[in-house]
Amino acid sequence: MTDTDDRIADIIAAHRQDEAPARSALLPILHDIQAAFGHVGEDTMRQIALALNLTRAEVHGVVSFYHDFRTEFRSLPVIKLCRAEACKARGVEALIEAAEQAAAGKVAIETIYCLGLCSVGPSALVRDEVHARLDASKLAALIGAAA
Ligand code: FES
Repeated sequence: MTDTDDRIADIIAAHRQDEAPARSALLPILHDIQAAFGHVGEDTMRQIALALNLTRAEVHGVVSFYHDFRTEFRSLPVIKLCRAEACKARGVEALIEAAEQAAAGKVAIETIYCLGLCSVGPSALVRDEVHARLDASKLAALIGAAA
């Protein structure tokens, strides 16, 4: 077993409760593994499935259902721009185009649907921090700081 396998086993063990169904531990395990390693790889899904007595397809189904889980490591910083209706009405579509050009491959620009800041949009999520009232210059500053 590698150090990584041991860390994954520790995360799984931390969420397993004998009286609770194994399936109920799956999402917390996936969140912690992604937080620790930046992704949930194929080998990891196999290890989780084995530990929880689930099929690999069941684990993969959950990972692929939620957009925030990644199956491959990505080294680029990520800025998630809200593309839901209120932010659309406040001009996020034009900001997305500008952001992709400004990012120039150094920052990944992704979209997300509602950060709960609808009245102060357009909004973005950078790491665990939300940013509101974005315009082109504020977004360019965020991209510059993230790159
Ligand atoms: S619509 Fe963008 S934060 Fe709600």
